[in-house]
Amino acid sequence: MLAPIAATLALAGLAAASPIAVGANPHMNINVARDLKEYKTDVEIHESCNATQRRMLEKALADTFEVATVAQEYVATNGPEDPVFQKYFGKEQKSYSTVLGIWESLLTSNKEGVLLRCDNPDGNCGQPGWRGHWRGDNATSETVICDLSYTDRFYNEAFCMFGYTVAGSPLGTHWSIDLIHRMFHVPTITNGLVGHYSEDYASALELAEHNATYSSIDSDALQAFAAHVYAVEVAKGGDACIGEAAEAHSDSHGAATSSAAASASATPAASATSSAAESCHTHADGTEHCEGHAESSAAATSAAAAAATSAASQDCHTHADGSECKRASVIRFE
Ligand SMILES: *[C@@H]1O[C@H](CO)[C@@H](O)[C@H](O)[C@H]1NC(C)=O
Ligand SMILES: *[C@@H]1O[C@H](CO)[C@@H](O)[C@H](O)[C@H]1NC(C)=O
Ligand SMILES: *[C@@H]1O[C@H](CO)[C@@H](O)[C@H](O)[C@H]1NC(C)=O
Repeated sequence: MLAPIAATLALAGLAAASPIAVGANPHMNINVARDLKEYKTDVEIHESCNATQRRMLEKALADTFEVATVAQEYVATNGPEDPVFQKYFGKEQKSYSTVLGIWESLLTSNKEGVLLRCDNPDGNCGQPGWRGHWRGDNATSETVICDLSYTDRFYNEAFCMFGYTVAGSPLGTHWSIDLIHRMFHVPTITNGLVGHYSEDYASALELAEHNATYSSIDSDALQAFAAHVYAVEVAKGGDACIGEAAEAHSDSHGAATSSAAASASATPAASATSSAAESCHTHADGTEHCEGHAESSAAATSAAAAAATSAASQDCHTHADGSECKRASVIRFE
């Protein structure tokens, strides 16, 4: 279903080395037939990923496309009057086409050069709690996936399991939503349109209700919407899987408070507890915000007898300005 749109993308493919000076006659430069650019449907998995990592990332990427497709189809079909759409994006006229276009872009933009890698080239994975990061200026289309991602994230089938709620659990609980977030950081995916304009679930909803100008391009609102629609339409989780928004973000950078899914437990054999995971973002103005969340446990992939305990883990990524999350954190398996 993705291939046919390649033709429309090709218009952007101006040849860089034209024999005619741009100033001489601009019309001659563009009104020529030109070859299509190379078009890649899929995100590439770097050779640094071993067989296990590759299999898990392939599944994670398939999950990502599944969730994005459900979100895209939901928006296209139910339109801007839909209550779930308005919950996350408000009532601005431009929101419908903007949101629809963002999901379309994520699904069909040219993935040439868009890469997930496993070799920790910037050395960030050594920092406690790091599950992955966008490479920023070092390679704008590349994302590093750190080892913790493989133990901490769930596949789509686990939506609405173990006390997960869209409102109360970290957005990155599932691979799919996490990779949607990471893809939004890659400039070529939405031409850099999506950014961070809210702090957490509650503030994203508040933005939609009172100040929706940025909601349609807000990374958290888009992720939460995709999770919400998937949870209800596909996972059939209903109200229980959506949950209630906690109080609006207090803007304190202090101790993270966790909510709904704090006691998420996993397989009977594994006792897993979690607390105070944080997700940090640095905003365009340079301020850093870390949001408190209950982090889902990793027990599903750990040894059956293991008791997994995570405390104050962070989901960190580095932004274009080089800023990153600095708070100490630990994940322990014992
Ligand atoms: C892949 O790498 C991970 C750790 O980075 C390791 O635990 C796993 O055994 C490796 N898998 C293979 C098939 O080499
Ligand atoms: C880019 O590379 C430099 C040098 O290796 C490193 O210090 C920096 O953290 C990297 N940036 C990101 C976003 O990882
Ligand atoms: C609306 O939201 C944007 C982005 O978060 C913010 O910069 C702006 O100050 C907000 N406006 C009002 C009136 O709250």
